[in-house]
Amino acid sequence: MASPSSSYLLLLAAILALVSWQAIASDPSPLQDFCVADKDSKVLVNGFVCKDPKGANADDFFMAAKLDMPRDTKLSKVGSNITLINAMRLPGLNTLGISLARIDYAPLGENPPHTHPRATEILTVLEGTLYVGFVTSNQDNKLFSKVLNKGDVFVFPKGLIHFQFNPNPYQPAVAIAALSSQNPGAITIANAMFGSKPPISHEVLAKAFQVDKKTVDWLQAQFWADNHN
Ligand SMILES: *[C@@H]1O[C@H](CO)[C@@H](O)[C@H](O)[C@H]1NC(C)=O
Repeated sequence: MASPSSSYLLLLAAILALVSWQAIASDPSPLQDFCVADKDSKVLVNGFVCKDPKGANADDFFMAAKLDMPRDTKLSKVGSNITLINAMRLPGLNTLGISLARIDYAPLGENPPHTHPRATEILTVLEGTLYVGFVTSNQDNKLFSKVLNKGDVFVFPKGLIHFQFNPNPYQPAVAIAALSSQNPGAITIANAMFGSKPPISHEVLAKAFQVDKKTVDWLQAQFWADNHN
């Protein structure tokens, strides 16, 4: 039988394992107050090299991003426009593991199925209505979906394929999202599959999507534009 102290140690080990797992589930933790990205540095590290903290000022942590202003969604084939504030745009975000986005949706516009390889996303609707969802990994591929109204909040777990669609044919929609990485990355599924450069062999895609090669050729001939701004 385990003594009280050995079961205590076991519990401690379990908690430590959980804590260290959580630590690797997002960007690495900072080792200083801040590390403002030095965009001019030629040194390549995981993230950006820090600029001398003595030279840092409030503007390194500021951006007049005009996130209150509507974005143009007419140019986008999918009817959405994403303004992402990541560490490339706001140098003070470097090493802090967080970023922000404004997403504008045209009537019937969508942010098509995509994943963020490095971030969980939490989204709130500022204007309009959104039908949103994510799909779990193999083998369940279960869809979790919901219709969100103004003020509602939804979470898309890290790495999972997700989407947002504005079902209203007359009114636009707007959302704000926060992401748990300074550089969440985005892989739009259709663009990556049918718009890669150079193209993936149509033999590979025909089998993967269970369609004929002509359908793949047609899909590959489309213009797969990015809806990120
Ligand atoms: C997003 O909106 C901005 C400002 O309205 C516009 O300049 C830009 O071209 C749009 N981008 C896309 C991808 O539609």
